[in-house]
Amino acid sequence: MTSERAPGAGFIEHIPGAAPVVRPERHPRAKGVGVLGLHEGRTLLIALESRCAFARAVAGCDTNTAKIESSRRELPGLFYTDDYEAMLARPDVEIVAVYTPDHLHADHVERAFEAGKDVLCTKPLTNSLEGARRILESGRRTGRRLLVGQSTRFFEPFRRQRAALERGEFGGLDGVEMVDAHYIHRMDWYYRKSPWAATETDWVFLGLSHPVDLVRWYLGRIRTVHALGIVSAMGRSFGVQGRDAYIVNMLAEDGRIARVMGHYGCHELPTARNCIECLVFASGGTSLAQYHDMRYLHTGGAAPSEGGAAFRPGTHAEIVEDYLYAGRHYYFNSEVHGMHYGEFANYADHLASGLIAGEPRSPGLEEGVETVCVMEAIRRSAESGGPVEIGPLLERVGLA
Ligand SMILES: NC(=O)c1ccc[n+]([C@@H]2O[C@H](COP(=O)([O-])OP(=O)(O)OC[C@H]3O[C@@H](n4cnc5c(N)ncnc54)[C@H](O)[C@@H]3O)[C@@H](O)[C@H]2O)c1
Repeated sequence: MTSERAPGAGFIEHIPGAAPVVRPERHPRAKGVGVLGLHEGRTLLIALESRCAFARAVAGCDTNTAKIESSRRELPGLFYTDDYEAMLARPDVEIVAVYTPDHLHADHVERAFEAGKDVLCTKPLTNSLEGARRILESGRRTGRRLLVGQSTRFFEPFRRQRAALERGEFGGLDGVEMVDAHYIHRMDWYYRKSPWAATETDWVFLGLSHPVDLVRWYLGRIRTVHALGIVSAMGRSFGVQGRDAYIVNMLAEDGRIARVMGHYGCHELPTARNCIECLVFASGGTSLAQYHDMRYLHTGGAAPSEGGAAFRPGTHAEIVEDYLYAGRHYYFNSEVHGMHYGEFANYADHLASGLIAGEPRSPGLEEGVETVCVMEAIRRSAESGGPVEIGPLLERVGLA
């Protein structure tokens, strides 16, 4: 099993000086990154500049010149353009990072591959089977590498949760029996900022990509999904074309099971719930990772009492690990939740260190395409009301 931790992007106690963030020494062959789409992509530029060891910011591109100017004010030393071909033509751009709207990713990834670049693509990799087929075909033909920026995997509590299972705690990865993951977020502000979210994609891609990826990370290939979906009152008021709330049951190829939920037309969540949570039920214990409170909670793992008293204090106690004060500067840049600096830096270094070492990194090209197939199956299941098998969709994109 490949470890998800990149060298240089260790757990937060290894980051020198938690506040203010001090960038680790840069690798002499650090990869040059050009970012396409400078809204969320601007967060990546800042993360590259301030936190990465194996990757560095060299260029930014956006068709909106106001976005270019706001990035230029913050990071004046880079090459900026509104012409994607001009960025692709630059030899110092070794990795293209795609942060354009979901429905444009396939075209932008394909053009980067054809120009000889490796690719970091934000989630979702794409929002159609045809887009997934094209990305897979062009990635295989050109031999270029791709990492999907599944940011949740790279957030501290989720890395800790995974690392504990990789170390064999709670029964280890093979002991995982069931996963319950969700991403819930009030999104009226997002439609105002990015109207394409209502009409050009579906929340199964834009939102559910986080929990679906978490489930696939633990359970591997999914065989069947059975989904229910609705359009909320908020979604209707913004003219949402697909659905903005989903509940999904999933069955893995090997018989393990999962539940995924997403709601993007809700009001604020009660504080007891986090917007992203991953609850892993394993044979030797249960663990929960939370975004964005930065907590990792777990029960089990201690030896059961033998012979003597039925209850011994400390046995099977709940352990709460809270990384907010240690990690907020690195992950959020301040006390404000919501930015993604730390996760983006972690995955950029994860890809770049893999390219330098010639090692594969996850979630890569085929894994990303498979996740698109699962999301499309969920969309179809909610449409039809019945279960949908993933196999025929994998065949359609060339993955079966
Ligand atoms: N946690 C995460 O990983 C995370 C968070 C938010 C958004 N995202 C993803 O990032 C992507 C962008 O989301 P956003 O919120 O920044 O959207 P946005 O609408 O705010 O920004 C998109 C940017 O792309 C630019 N753009 C559009 N078409 C372009 C083109 N053809 N060439 C160059 N630039 C172009 C726009 O001008 C805009 O600045 C989406 O796919 C979204 O799902 C990921």
